[in-house]
Amino acid sequence: MEVLHEPARLRAVCDQARRAGERVGVVPTMGALHAGHLALIDEARRRGAQRVVVTIFVNPLQFGPNEDYSRYPRTLPDDAAACEARGVDWVFAPDREAMYPAGFASQVRVSGVTEVLEGVFRPGHFDGVTTVVAKLFGLVGDAVAVFGRKDYQQWCVLRRMVRDLDLPIEMHGMPTVREVDGLALSSRNRYLSPEERVRALAIVRGLRAAIASFDAGERDPRVLESMVRAPVEAAFDRIDYVAVADADSLAPIERVEGRAVLAVAAHLGRTRLIDNVVLGEDRP
Ligand code: PAJ
Repeated sequence: MEVLHEPARLRAVCDQARRAGERVGVVPTMGALHAGHLALIDEARRRGAQRVVVTIFVNPLQFGPNEDYSRYPRTLPDDAAACEARGVDWVFAPDREAMYPAGFASQVRVSGVTEVLEGVFRPGHFDGVTTVVAKLFGLVGDAVAVFGRKDYQQWCVLRRMVRDLDLPIEMHGMPTVREVDGLALSSRNRYLSPEERVRALAIVRGLRAAIASFDAGERDPRVLESMVRAPVEAAFDRIDYVAVADADSLAPIERVEGRAVLAVAAHLGRTRLIDNVVLGEDRP
């Protein structure tokens, strides 16, 4: 495995692989890798990638001024070792100047699906995500890409971008990988104190209660939302949103008829956690 730092070098190895008839797989991450990220690598292989590149870049553009950019965990040596053990071919770990050299002035923006849920509480966040992922896709070229549905809205936004811009990327979404007790794996879980880690499970309890109620026939979004809101309100310090939305457009719905997602974002001390389930499909 090779760790690459230069964008031009990433383009060169991907071009070379394709010339040799190999399919390239790309897994974009911000590092602090856990089993959820590693599952995306395996999925890229299952989806036909003979060569896999994991990108590791804590993207400053997607963090708000009061968010955790400076304290976000940076663990490149451990990440590279985990990638190597998983059979990754290249880790692309550029520095900030390589991605955004002086004079950088462009932005990729998706409207609509970015304007609800996370978009309300993290203004500009998705512009940062789409801009960096468009750059990564530009460097990698024709490839399969794998993303986690843990970041459900991000997955919807990036699919929209790939379709709208005719990018030569085959997109795949991976179900959320969880701890044995149900907590969704997240690089941000390492911010939690042992006591907060216990309180965090309120999200899982809430989602499970809502799923049980959905399975029993409940189709009123307000009732389903309240089943998550109650335990999370009791255990967390602040809720950003608990919302049932159309699973594709993420628009609010009056009644669950087609595919719908139930998504939650809430703060525990200085940590912000998100989670979601597609009703009738996901079982944390
Ligand atoms: P990051 O938070 O590092 O996540 C990288 C990828 O791992 C994303 O596709 C995310 O959805 C997926 N992932 C995280 N936790 C997961 C879990 N428990 N189960 C399954 N997949 C999981 O998302 C980002 O980085 C950035 O926004 C990025 C797309 C890299 C752009 O900077």
